Amino acid sequence: MTQTDNNPFDLDAVQAYGAWRERKLANYPVSLDELVVPVENPRALTDVERAAILQACGRANMAVYTLAHSGEAMDKTLLAGLGAQFGLRDLDCHLYTDDDGISALQVSAQRRQYEYIPYSNHAISWHTDGYYNPPQHRVLGMVLHCVRPAAQGGENRLLDHEIAYIRLRDENPRHIAALMQADVMTIPANVEEGIEIRPLQSGPVFSVDAQSGKLHMRYTARTRSIDWKQDADTQAAVRALEAVLAEDLPQSFRHRLAAGQGVICNNVLHTRSAFEDDAPAGQGRLMYRARFYQRVGPLRPGKSIIERNNK
Ligand SMILES: [Fe+2]
Repeated sequence: MTQTDNNPFDLDAVQAYGAWRERKLANYPVSLDELVVPVENPRALTDVERAAILQACGRANMAVYTLAHSGEAMDKTLLAGLGAQFGLRDLDCHLYTDDDGISALQVSAQRRQYEYIPYSNHAISWHTDGYYNPPQHRVLGMVLHCVRPAAQGGENRLLDHEIAYIRLRDENPRHIAALMQADVMTIPANVEEGIEIRPLQSGPVFSVDAQSGKLHMRYTARTRSIDWKQDADTQAAVRALEAVLAEDLPQSFRHRLAAGQGVICNNVLHTRSAFEDDAPAGQGRLMYRARFYQRVGPLRPGKSIIERNNK
């Protein structure tokens, strides 16, 4: 038996896929409540809290933590402190992250920033984060923390990307083959006032992370500023994926994060509904977001959190 025979994401490994699929669906939570973990101090989790978050991520690639003391002043370093306890150490820095690599998402009055939907109050369709990143900067892990919810709206839908994979592979393995092509999805270069601020980026939708052997997904349901490969298999696969996401799948969860709640996940598929603030500018919905190049996982034995942070 070769190594690929054991990887369920190899299309030839029919048995390994069958066994993995069965285990995955049998362990999948019935509701998001099963993935909620109360946390006393996010900077120093107890063994029980850490194990519960890891278990939730093992089942559905995501956990929702609820801080016991949401009223206390929260600063963005909380996200890095929490992530470090799961091996999340390399932050993705992009155009609008602050110097610490963590974004404060709120409605921005600055026009240039407002044009990016996350900084508006518009709905955001299904996507994974960092889908325009180059392969060496794949966003494998993410933390989204709610400091203040909106007065109305701002709900997230969350879907484990492995469930989307299962639905597509069960429907037709050719969909998976098409979506694993290295040039299936291309994001054109981002050019502002004649200056290229991000180069064209091509890559697969589904790929397997070499280090962990786990599935990674790169996707946006946006139809503007995205070029899909034009072959018939790709077109059919993209339509099939859109249809899966348009269904109200029982495995897809809806949740409106409350103040002091957050999602820690392996960059699962998600949406955001439109929202309305009724507070003055700068006092409305505020989310902190950190994107990492690692997956949520246990720390390697023998290394303390401090050693890992200092790496
Ligand atoms: Fe996102």
